[in-house]
Amino acid sequence: MNILVIGSGGREHAICAAFARSSRVTKILCAPGNAGIAQIAECVAIKADDIAGLVKYASANVIDLTFVGGETSLALGIVDGFESRGLKIIGPEKQAAQLEASKSFAKDFMARHGVPTAKYVTAHSPGFAVLELESGDFGDEATPVVVKADGLAAGKGVVVAANRAEAISAINEMAALVGADAAEKIVLEECLVGKEVSLLMFADGENFALMPPTRDYKRIGEGDAGPNTGGMGTITDASLLTIEQTNRIVDKMIIPTLAGCAAEGFPFRGILFLGIMMTADGPKLLEYNVRFGDPETQSILVRLETDFVDICDAILAGGGKSGNPRGSKSVSSLPEMNIRWKSGNSATIVLASKGYPDNPQTGYVIHGLENAELQGGISIFHAGTTLGPDGKFLTSGGRVLGVTAVAESLDDALAKAYSAAEQISWDGMQYRRDIGK
Ligand code: AMP
Ligand code: GLY
Repeated sequence: MNILVIGSGGREHAICAAFARSSRVTKILCAPGNAGIAQIAECVAIKADDIAGLVKYASANVIDLTFVGGETSLALGIVDGFESRGLKIIGPEKQAAQLEASKSFAKDFMARHGVPTAKYVTAHSPGFAVLELESGDFGDEATPVVVKADGLAAGKGVVVAANRAEAISAINEMAALVGADAAEKIVLEECLVGKEVSLLMFADGENFALMPPTRDYKRIGEGDAGPNTGGMGTITDASLLTIEQTNRIVDKMIIPTLAGCAAEGFPFRGILFLGIMMTADGPKLLEYNVRFGDPETQSILVRLETDFVDICDAILAGGGKSGNPRGSKSVSSLPEMNIRWKSGNSATIVLASKGYPDNPQTGYVIHGLENAELQGGISIFHAGTTLGPDGKFLTSGGRVLGVTAVAESLDDALAKAYSAAEQISWDGMQYRRDIGK
């Protein structure tokens, strides 16, 4: 089979690597890919937001299956475009992608289906958002409140404000921060307190299969200091959720969500990602993502033992609309499949450029990659690299590399990942030393 992966980050490198382990895959293509991905896939110079270009490419070439990495392509309707031409693709359709692309849509959906979440209100202008705060519904001037841009904002659209004054500045600055379109509506939320867990699953429109629970370390600085980033590291760890907690999340969040999507006419097929806050009052849903996380995926997929193409087949086999390529019944369904994961834990340490996230400095030669790769049980996923004229990898983005390790315990996975990370260097490289601690 020929597989096309859409995207260019560490997540897509990990997705390509999972396909590369499948005995059913002949060739992997990645649009647009990056210099690390080019080691295992043929990179195709079409951007992830060029939906017409991608549809044209997949129609004109022998592509048996396409896998979408990121939310931008999904929100633009890549799945609808591919399916209307009979091309097999993994990801939710445009309407289901609204669960991530519009925070107000997601919150209203949670409310309609009784999914536990933070109290919220949607304001249609910054002025109304300020009035909502002043009404006192979100507590007094000293109460923390969360300010969110409605639209996609690449991780920049959420400000956890310590008090009303900070919230008002966040409201007034949101359009400048994320663009007027994404900030057209503002969602205000009660600030929840607790530990965060990310729970991802494969979903076929009706059924689901959970992946190992993960934790993402979002802030740039150790001890969770400084601004939010795309993610500075992740772990997978079964002990992040007890069986009772998992059952509660399944009953209160997952079943109502998948049933709600089906009932509203957009059955969810693809990867569903729940960002959950474990509060004193039980688990509450912070957000839906409609795709794999980055860098969660790096930690998750290195543990996948089942053939990734078989899982994709199962996602496609679950119920389908007539006339599209879903609905094949000749393969195992998700519930029939017993997806196998390597035992133990995994950890990913993100190596980032100086100045990330505000103003990353790029173009530096990366040293020591070969030495890091020599250490057993390590995977290095490229996020922001390019090949220099002399064949050396250069930094080309904020997040540059992810170093991922699997081991029987979390401590061992972290020790292996950090030991490999220490082999790598470039001018201004920064990483957190407290991932998983
Ligand atoms: P989101 O993109 O909605 O997941 O928000 C990004 C991050 O902001 C989350 O991972 C949390 O750390 C934080 N956050 C979002 N909503 C809330 C909330 N209601 N209370 C506390 N923290 C939140
Ligand atoms: N690491 C968080 C995300 O992918 O949204």
